[in-house]
Amino acid sequence: MKIQNYINGEWKEPSTGQFAPVINPATGETIAEVAMSGPNDIDEAVQAAKEAQKQWALVPAPKRAEILYKVGMLLKERKEQLARMLTMEMGKVIEEARGEVQEGIDMAFYMAGEGRRLFGDTTPSELKDKFAMSVRVPVGVVGIITPWNFPIAIATWKSFPAIVAGNAVVWKPAPETPIMAQELARIFEEAGLPPGVFHVVHGDGPTVGNALVEHPDVKVISFTGSNEVGRMIAEKCGRLLKKVSLEMGGKNAVIVMDDADLTLAVDGIIWSAFGTSGQRCTACSRVIVHERVKQELERRLLEAVKTLKIGNGLDETVKVGPVIHEEALQKIDRYVRIGVEEGAKLLIGGHRLREGDYARGFYYAPTIFTDVTPNMRIAREEIFGPVVSIISVRSLDEAIAVNNSVDYGLSSAIFTRDVNNVFRAMRDLDTGIVYVNAGTTGAEIHLPFGGTKGTGNGHRDSGVAALDVFTEWRSIYVDFSGKLQRAQIDTDD
Ligand code: UN1
Repeated sequence: MKIQNYINGEWKEPSTGQFAPVINPATGETIAEVAMSGPNDIDEAVQAAKEAQKQWALVPAPKRAEILYKVGMLLKERKEQLARMLTMEMGKVIEEARGEVQEGIDMAFYMAGEGRRLFGDTTPSELKDKFAMSVRVPVGVVGIITPWNFPIAIATWKSFPAIVAGNAVVWKPAPETPIMAQELARIFEEAGLPPGVFHVVHGDGPTVGNALVEHPDVKVISFTGSNEVGRMIAEKCGRLLKKVSLEMGGKNAVIVMDDADLTLAVDGIIWSAFGTSGQRCTACSRVIVHERVKQELERRLLEAVKTLKIGNGLDETVKVGPVIHEEALQKIDRYVRIGVEEGAKLLIGGHRLREGDYARGFYYAPTIFTDVTPNMRIAREEIFGPVVSIISVRSLDEAIAVNNSVDYGLSSAIFTRDVNNVFRAMRDLDTGIVYVNAGTTGAEIHLPFGGTKGTGNGHRDSGVAALDVFTEWRSIYVDFSGKLQRAQIDTDD
């Protein structure tokens, strides 16, 4: 299968004529080839998007939304088929792949609802016979750059609000996971989206991503990915005075207090640390445990990890799939060695899996370090793999301080039965998402998604907050007094 670009409603060869292999991380097999485009392809897509957007913005928002409802229905009909393809290109286990497609379905229906809201404000004027209101207006052409770990969900978080708000979208998906991009473009087409409103241009970041970021007709960039790339994009957008929404790394912690239900805490930690093989920006990579329950928690975690079946995610009984590619394996392994050198104690894992069925895929054993201190690199830097570090503390204050001591601020969790602990955590954990008695993953699409500090730059995906990224505010004053009224001057006093 050759995956081409989708530009102006047509499937097109990249102008470079170049393609790269797409590899199933569970088996190492090449399952497709993806276009490796050049700046010309971006330019073609952006020009077409600019033209199409003018008409799209004039379509009443409830009508735009009807297309999203159809997109939601098609995603729903094809959920199983899409989930299987997703597992094959990305590696996550099938049950999680279904969950990811479900996020897209939910987002379609939620954002379709926005077609009949897109609320602005009406407000009194300070002058007589004058009316004041604010409305959302589309920005024009939106550029979207997404990672491989949620190949369809993140694209829906960004493109659905952009489209319902009247923008056109040019999307550069991760080259590792182009199949989901192709399927989403087909679904948009079948749902009746006019040609030119949604484009997919495949390729690498330095060429295609960069061309999108620098294109003068792209008014907003919405990016999810690494901090390194996000920072580069932000610098460029800063110079161009371009709005940019960044969703980047995490170093998310689960706090386990001494009064916690440990069975529940273990379930939450295992799921959020080793689900998606730790390759979620929301994955739990630190466990901050009260010293009184440390030993018992470790014992139970060890027991639980030993039961995890690792393998090809298409097997329904497998709980942990491969990681995305060889490079990721090497990065994870490097961090594990750093942890050992820093003096952390390896409780379990800490190595690649190479025997038998694992030989051709990219598998890493679920890994737990203990006796980790907050200043160690494994406790501060994002590893993006199945590695979790246990840090022991003596109080809630210390737990909160350790949680907040990292450069990231995406998600955090606390397991406790004490309502006072709960409310202090809700107030004091410096992250964009806080969970009580649940792990650090599993955000729902109708709430804002994003983080503080190095995780982002103040914007949010999902929820109504996503609309802020893809719209400008226009404040409108209508004076029906029939005479010149000067604000701040012609008041009665
Ligand atoms: C991500 O890893 O970039 O909250 C997104 C979660 C998922 C989304 C994760 N709903 O874990």
